[in-house]
Amino acid sequence: MYKIKLFFSSLLLLLLGSVLQAQTTTGLNELIPKPISVQENKGVFTFYKNTALSFPAALSSAAGLLKSQLSNFEFSSSKNKTRIQYVLLKASEVVGKEGYKLSIQPNQIIIAAQTVQGAILGTSSLVQLQMIQQNQQQIPCGIILDSPRFAYRGMHLDVSRNFFPLSFIKKYIDLMSLYKFNTFHWHLTDGPGWRLEIKKYPKLTQMGAFRAFNSWKSWWDSERLYTAQGDAGSYGGFYTQVQAKEIVKYAASKGITVIPEIEMPGHTEEVLAAYPELACSGKPYQGGAFCVGNEKTFEFLENVLTEVMDIFPSTFIHIGGDEVGKADWKKCPKCQALKNKASLKDENELQSYFVKRIEKFLNQHQRNLLGWDEIIEGGLSPNATVMSWRGDKGAITAATQKHEVVMTPGVTYFDAYQSNPETQPLAIGGYLPIKRVYNFEPIPAGLNKESEKYIIGTQGNLWSEYLPTTYQVEYMAYPRAIALAEVAWTQKDKKNYDDFTDRLQHQYLLLQRLHVNYYRPSTFVEIVATPDYTIQKNLIQFNTEMYHPEIRYTLDGSEPNLLSSKYEQPFLVEGTTNIKARVVTERNTLSAVAQFTANYHKAIGKKVTYNTRWSESYPAQKLATLTNGIVGSITYGDGQWLGYTNNLDITLDMDSVTMLHNLGLRFMQQTGPGVYMPGFVSVSLSQDGDFYSEPIRVMNDISTKDSKLIFKSFDFDLKGQPARYIRIKAFNEQRGFLFVDEVIVN
Ligand code: ACM
Repeated sequence: MYKIKLFFSSLLLLLLGSVLQAQTTTGLNELIPKPISVQENKGVFTFYKNTALSFPAALSSAAGLLKSQLSNFEFSSSKNKTRIQYVLLKASEVVGKEGYKLSIQPNQIIIAAQTVQGAILGTSSLVQLQMIQQNQQQIPCGIILDSPRFAYRGMHLDVSRNFFPLSFIKKYIDLMSLYKFNTFHWHLTDGPGWRLEIKKYPKLTQMGAFRAFNSWKSWWDSERLYTAQGDAGSYGGFYTQVQAKEIVKYAASKGITVIPEIEMPGHTEEVLAAYPELACSGKPYQGGAFCVGNEKTFEFLENVLTEVMDIFPSTFIHIGGDEVGKADWKKCPKCQALKNKASLKDENELQSYFVKRIEKFLNQHQRNLLGWDEIIEGGLSPNATVMSWRGDKGAITAATQKHEVVMTPGVTYFDAYQSNPETQPLAIGGYLPIKRVYNFEPIPAGLNKESEKYIIGTQGNLWSEYLPTTYQVEYMAYPRAIALAEVAWTQKDKKNYDDFTDRLQHQYLLLQRLHVNYYRPSTFVEIVATPDYTIQKNLIQFNTEMYHPEIRYTLDGSEPNLLSSKYEQPFLVEGTTNIKARVVTERNTLSAVAQFTANYHKAIGKKVTYNTRWSESYPAQKLATLTNGIVGSITYGDGQWLGYTNNLDITLDMDSVTMLHNLGLRFMQQTGPGVYMPGFVSVSLSQDGDFYSEPIRVMNDISTKDSKLIFKSFDFDLKGQPARYIRIKAFNEQRGFLFVDEVIVN
């Protein structure tokens, strides 16, 4: 009896086990970027050691990629042979140049494409699907039909501010390929270091590739000296031509084109230190731009580009062109002589002359010029492609002139903070959580329909000022790059942030398997109050990056604990409410407390007269900003912080004489980008708008040297005085930016 029971329960366990196993595969719908169409079918395909692989010669490199990917795993042997087959489609079986069809059945997988690139991208889907399975020997069945939205899907890496070894460049490319990026923009040269061997000019790497501090910031804040390789204090490195060619080949095997960037005519301090005869002054350590009036500059650059083109077969060669300091050109007799001879109006046209000559040279070698959007200034050269980084103005100008554009505005700058800066390693500034990256739409809103086709794609940029290690590069790039991958690949109508978040949960397994030091989702609770002007209450919503978090909160100022109210859905509060919330994390521990005072205050909706004008760069919600009841978040770029470069001077009209108890005006300080507290804030009151009371002042007590992100409310006790008009001034003592989000009156 006992034995029989044991037998049956074992049988039950076995059955249950196989059911569970079938259920634990992660479906085709979890892939990122999301394909055009997915059909999930019953059953699984099993990889074995003896799984057969067949392919037409034209697709052999895609099959080779699959073989090398799968060789990372030890599959079990079995007589139960399965097969994987590559099929070359005819052009009439339309899937597009980068499209593919992936069909997974229990006994066979078919990857069909018109091109080897399509087959490689289909392989990427297959490999990703396998890597997000707990049991990597099995993947679920189904059919995918897919092709990209944009032809250019890039990731950039600055190896000048900090240098990264070849092994890491390969890892960076491995990750890119899993998310269907097809372009690696390698920022190889810049003031902090030249990183590519050029045989004709050995001093570029002998001198220009090493500097006096390993920390970019220490170097930047010093004399910015270049040093010799081998000196005890030297930091730097470069890639030999053999190594660079190895990267080109490696990337190509994964469907990725490498575009080299050789900066010119600015960002070239390291070149001018090694070859000072190319500077306007003829001396090293003076100026950062090539002398355009010197023919030797063109001879040098053409020789360099000849070697660069020999290494990199990419159609595009990126020539930088950004942030050129033109002061030296204005004083330089050679540059001025050229300007006059070529009838150029100003230094912008001088830069344009320079870019046009370089473009002509590249075009003669069947290459196309790619440059940052400054190359528009002074007139775009005939065939140039523009990388629009300063918002979308450059993109609109270039696209309407029928030039192709790659979109890399601020939301693609992964050197910005991805969470509250107080909790993060030092970064350059800004605030770019993954959700903002995901919601980026590369087609500029102001672009006319006919020009949309000139927007060829987008790219994530990793500037390395504050990326001293490969660990930090991974941390800043992932998972934000995964969000951008979907922006670049997936059709707009198929994108959905909540659905993306669901799918992202499966990618962590893959990232962990590849030992990627990705940024972990923050437990920080963002408390958002949205005023409802009709019922005069605030709707409170909690956001976090945690997946389906348990959030506990209080409304009475006490610390939330495991027994506090559980957040189920947004709720309303009235008047002034002190809200505290935290996330319950693993094993019932609690995250740090987030605190926010929601205030449906008396000035909401009241009219403000602006006696001084805000900065046109930060208009926030313009006239409505300071009394719309919405406070700013941790970043001044969120559209709720009104920016001033002069003094702030406003008059608030309460509509009728009102008893006033207190008034608060909040500012932020972030000295990096030049944002400071005002020296003081003053308030005076009036009943009739003519006679104002003596202003009362609240002085700033935050040090202007404190480089942390700081918020401070300048608070006034108005003691119940009756008034209709309130005149408020804030003194811009540092002549930097003042940022203010709301005038709160109770
Ligand atoms: C750039 O960020 N200077 C292109």
